[in-house]
Amino acid sequence: MEVCDWGDVPVGWRRRHLLGLEDMSAGEIELILDQAERFRLILMRGASYESCNRKIPLLSGKTCVNLFFENSTRTKTSFSLAARRLGMDVVDFSASTSSLSKGETFIDTVKNLEAMQVDVIVVRHSCPGTAMLLSENIRGHVLNAGDGAHEHPTQALLDILTIRQRFGKVAGLTVALVGDIAHSRTARSNIWGLRALGANVILCGPSTLVSRQWEALGVKVSYSLDAILDQVDVFNLLRIQFERQVIRPFPSTREYAHLYGMDAARLAKAKTDVLIIAPGPINRGLEVTPDVADGQHSAILDQVTNGVAIRMATLWMCINVKPEN
Ligand code: NCD
Repeated sequence: MEVCDWGDVPVGWRRRHLLGLEDMSAGEIELILDQAERFRLILMRGASYESCNRKIPLLSGKTCVNLFFENSTRTKTSFSLAARRLGMDVVDFSASTSSLSKGETFIDTVKNLEAMQVDVIVVRHSCPGTAMLLSENIRGHVLNAGDGAHEHPTQALLDILTIRQRFGKVAGLTVALVGDIAHSRTARSNIWGLRALGANVILCGPSTLVSRQWEALGVKVSYSLDAILDQVDVFNLLRIQFERQVIRPFPSTREYAHLYGMDAARLAKAKTDVLIIAPGPINRGLEVTPDVADGQHSAILDQVTNGVAIRMATLWMCINVKPEN
């Protein structure tokens, strides 16, 4: 096994937890992106060189618990893989079969897990603020894997890494977040991260899902996708979050797809080097047509690859943080 000399966590990183991007500086975001890029290169090398078994065991002996109270494919799997590739032991906690159903409180449950010498809790919960609450009540490190419609920091970081890889920069680019802004934690984290790095952000969707009040965050709002097609470098196509909506925000999914779905006709009117990304899961035929999702402008699967590297970077940096850094 190849063991690299990775030295210390980069100077300037002082966070024990990853709760969100709202208060994160451009410098901190860049430290994560740069570290993720290093991990990604090693992992890619492992795919083609027999000598490397795709493990970078910087965190062997440490334990990570995945505490997911909402469904997940990409985020949970890639946090597990990231932790394993760093040599950690990983436990996937099943909320539905736990003693939470016997009346134990959330904090008691996590304190019991922590008493088994757990170092990191990766948490996803429908309630905004859950990761922050945990970070104030346990000794270990907390990484937010999505708290309600509030934040999803690692998703935004992997989106931004994918954009940076493709364009070599983020500052000055115009990124449109299209779809269900109102209920999307991915949108919030992207807005804060992209604005910190100097990108222009346009929010696009029906007025029932995109309020003009968002302009206070330094973004533009457009209710017409067709009107912005030729101005945008990156379209981030967000899923309609039916599970968080109290009332249907548009008459029919057919109408939504007609007005806001990305298809070949719209792509033909976009910039020639336009990038299409989506956090997934994608609903083919709703926010994006299959030919666009699988086409040459799409980096949707690159995002997934980058997700493992981003999660490795954030795990390593939060666990190894030095107070004097
Ligand atoms: C996002 C999420 O869960 O917030 N997905 C993800 O983490 N890959 C977006 C979504 O569910 O639409």
